[in-house]
Amino acid sequence: MTLAEKLFNCFKGQDMFSLREAYEQNSDKPKETVRARIYENLATKFQRITKGVYRTITSDEEQCILIEGDGRDLSMLKDNSIDCIFTDHPWLDIKSNKGGTRSFALYDCFRYTIEDFREKARVLKQGCFLIEILPAENENNYEYLYQIKQMAKEAGFLYYSKVTWKKGTFVSNTGRKAKNSQDIMIFSKGKARNMRCDKKKSDRTGENCYMSGCNGMLPAMFDIQPVSRKDKIHQSELPVELCEKIIEFMTYEGEIILDSFAGSGAVGIAALNKNRSCILIEILRENIEKIKNRFNNLFYEVVLG
Ligand SMILES: C[S@@+](CC[C@H](N)C(=O)[O-])C[C@H]1O[C@@H](n2cnc3c(N)ncnc32)[C@H](O)[C@@H]1O
Repeated sequence: MTLAEKLFNCFKGQDMFSLREAYEQNSDKPKETVRARIYENLATKFQRITKGVYRTITSDEEQCILIEGDGRDLSMLKDNSIDCIFTDHPWLDIKSNKGGTRSFALYDCFRYTIEDFREKARVLKQGCFLIEILPAENENNYEYLYQIKQMAKEAGFLYYSKVTWKKGTFVSNTGRKAKNSQDIMIFSKGKARNMRCDKKKSDRTGENCYMSGCNGMLPAMFDIQPVSRKDKIHQSELPVELCEKIIEFMTYEGEIILDSFAGSGAVGIAALNKNRSCILIEILRENIEKIKNRFNNLFYEVVLG
């Protein structure tokens, strides 16, 4: 067995491994040799995640890569390498997030800048979709919501559509208006790619023809109950069912979805359930641990089922 094969077998199935681990596993070999075998096999056996961190590539299965770090720093990702960005950033809105007995947004919050959108545009493939989960518009956030659209446009995104997420029977009676929805804002990088079936042309030509747009006509709203308080592992956890529905409209099987503010990892679970790969970035250690547990549990369920 070659050293490259030995390294591959050793780290196969692991989310990622560091150069240090590779050296430790092969302490009888000079570090330069171990490093050289990894470098030689980049793109075939190994993929570089970030400085000194790699993962093994198995082409026949979808993968989830979990990165503990700053999701606003995408420098480890190559230009035009991601098929969909699907994210729910921790928007800063102190006025809307306080009041009553609510303890909202325990994590660090921020407002996007144009640099965030330039980086999203850099890593996303041409024609692919950027999905931003946003709060319903109110008197505190309407300007910011408008700025998001402006920044996206300036970075090269086109407004594709906005779909409401109606939270089933859940209603939060706070502020001026009962709240039971959020917005799913969809942009494309340049003109949207051709995922939408062109029925007329298909009928005329007898072949499957597609036109610009996502995979099907989006609904007026997704009516899906939020995760119940007792089942939640994260304050702002999205229902996997909602993520799955969005993913099916925006991507094909085998594609790579990036969620740079992963929280509970719901987008990752949905991606794997729908045979897509995902890269999850989360800054808080405690959330990383929760995501790891969640993924192990899912694998157990799949194996047992
Ligand atoms: C709104 S929540 C995401 C919820 C997620 N969509 C889910 O379904 O569970 C935002 C998450 O972003 C994380 N976060 C905050 N700043 C971050 C940063 N700079 N990089 C990565 N994650 C960050 C927070 O810890 C929080 O878990």
